Amino acid sequence: MLKDFFYFYHPMKDFTKKYGPWALVAGASEGLGEAFAVEAARRGLNVLIAARRLDKLQDLAASLEGRFGVEVKYRQADLADPAQIRALFLHQELTFGLVIYNAAYAPIGWFTDLAPENLEKIVAVNAQGPLLVAKLASDRMKELKKGGIVLMSSLAGTQGSPKIATYAATKAFNMILAEGLWKELKPLGIDVLASCAGAILTPGYGNTKHQKPAPGSMTPQQVASFTLDRLGRGPVVVPGTTNKLARLLMGRLLPRRLAIALMHQQTKNL
Ligand SMILES: NC(=O)c1ccc[n+]([C@@H]2O[C@H](COP(=O)([O-])OP(=O)(O)OC[C@H]3O[C@@H](n4cnc5c(N)ncnc54)[C@H](OP(=O)(O)O)[C@@H]3O)[C@@H](O)[C@H]2O)c1
Repeated sequence: MLKDFFYFYHPMKDFTKKYGPWALVAGASEGLGEAFAVEAARRGLNVLIAARRLDKLQDLAASLEGRFGVEVKYRQADLADPAQIRALFLHQELTFGLVIYNAAYAPIGWFTDLAPENLEKIVAVNAQGPLLVAKLASDRMKELKKGGIVLMSSLAGTQGSPKIATYAATKAFNMILAEGLWKELKPLGIDVLASCAGAILTPGYGNTKHQKPAPGSMTPQQVASFTLDRLGRGPVVVPGTTNKLARLLMGRLLPRRLAIALMHQQTKNL
């Protein structure tokens, strides 16, 4: 009886109906993007996975088809290039009920040391990319009167973050964009959600100089599953209790200067 009650309210029950038939995961060759592709397939969606490394996409596509019996397509794309993003939406005219923009470029370095081209690429991959994906996806979802859009944000985007300042600014962009679109697109049947994650144990995180995983670190699978469970209950989800507390502290309770100084303590040795 109790089991039936929870099944009735289970977030996965209507997932395929609401967000099918196809999901696009942009930046899906490893780490969190791969976990999002797994979660979408596990929930019964066909998936188009995109990233630059074709060999990884091929392996993931074969694995997803074998494990979940859904249709999986892959496409090599550099998401810094708007033309290659547009091409994804023309890809065999797939109907995307769900789009997840996961890719990010996050070079670590003092602002004065980073080349202008590097800074431009951060903005292209992390801000221009999700903006264009959200626009192209929502134009089509508007006609279908349903859909879901997930943008990746970060606790780094809660306050200024020295040594990753531009990356952090793009993560704030994703959160604010998602909040605005959440309200604007809701009446059209489209759910928008920003996932404001803390440390995720991805290959990208492993490339940083962290001595040990940060408190509250989560696996890609945990973040992907938690995020998709909250789709429709936006505008922002913060996976993990420690991370929720950190966001409350850094974003609301502490004076801004102190929050930036605390972040600096964390990021200066990266
Ligand atoms: N890791 C963390 O601790 C953490 C914390 C908070 C938020 N986040 C957010 O979570 C997301 C995933 O984080 P992550 O950096 O750890 O990465 P990840 O999920 O391990 O991998 C990044 C994915 O994006 C793809 N990608 C990167 N640049 C691309 C480009 N120009 N064109 C196409 N695909 C591209 C990569 O594939 P290819 O290299 O094959 O192209 C890879 O599949 C990001 O949005 C990040 O801001 C991460």
